[in-house]
Amino acid sequence: MSDTIFGPWSDDDRNDWGHKPQALQHRLHKDPLFSLDALGALIDDYPRQHYALVEVGAAGSDRRLWREGEIGSLTGVQVIEAIKQGRMWLNLRNVGKLVKDYRELLAQIFDEIGAEIPGYDTYDQTSGILISSPKAQVYYHIDLPGQSLWQLHGRKRVYVYPIDPPFLSEKQLEQIALYEVEVDIPYEKWYDEHADVFDVEPGQMLHWPLNAPHRVENFDSLNVSMTMEYWSDAIRRSNMINVANGLLRDKVGYRPRQRSLTGPAFYAKAALQAGVRRSGLLKKERKARRPVSFRLDGARLGQLIDIPEAAE
Ligand SMILES: [Fe+2]
Repeated sequence: MSDTIFGPWSDDDRNDWGHKPQALQHRLHKDPLFSLDALGALIDDYPRQHYALVEVGAAGSDRRLWREGEIGSLTGVQVIEAIKQGRMWLNLRNVGKLVKDYRELLAQIFDEIGAEIPGYDTYDQTSGILISSPKAQVYYHIDLPGQSLWQLHGRKRVYVYPIDPPFLSEKQLEQIALYEVEVDIPYEKWYDEHADVFDVEPGQMLHWPLNAPHRVENFDSLNVSMTMEYWSDAIRRSNMINVANGLLRDKVGYRPRQRSLTGPAFYAKAALQAGVRRSGLLKKERKARRPVSFRLDGARLGQLIDIPEAAE
């Protein structure tokens, strides 16, 4: 392929990768794959089980509103208009696995990163496209895989917090790995004084250290971003330790003291968490999928129609 996706990397860019929150330049906002028309067409054909539509609270409000809905009979272009008028986000999950053009783009991104960061071996890479309303927000949370955020349309403010207590404790990390409750970790307004804050524009991407808590506030514009996720051997091992230590703490009442990623303690924990995963114990305890409680209104774009919860 001709054009590189990233701009030129500086030595600082390479040294900071994975160690500090950082902003890099890219050209994807100019790629026809991310024009609003192309995204509308993508939504038209997107499989139901692979998207999430969520109504959220306004930026700056403390009330944590979060309810899931569906796009109903709207066309993709109408969905984007509805998001522009409302306060929600649509996540086209797994686009980097499901759709060929985006899959090729993702492969090129990882080729370019690999050329700059030798030995940075990742697998199971995927990407999603997040289309969100003016002034919508994404609450304080962490993600288990490695992650980055690529800004394509609109502007947003992204806060990235330190990976130590009280911003993130080992116990919280274990709970998230065990029960997948990403957005339920406590957040205090004063944390913001300790955050790296980025006002991102189309053509910028953010990358941060593994598990760094973050939250997002859109400015007054429709936002389109691509989120990229990946695993590496080190990330997978770290997650296995989180699950095993969480099990020891929660189920056995034992307070784990170490999180080494090699050696006998690691392999004992790897075996423990693998056994529990196979037993299906975790699946039962993990939260059930949230019910769908609204549908977009095709007659009044931006409005929602409540739908009664289906009986269990
Ligand atoms: Fe995230």
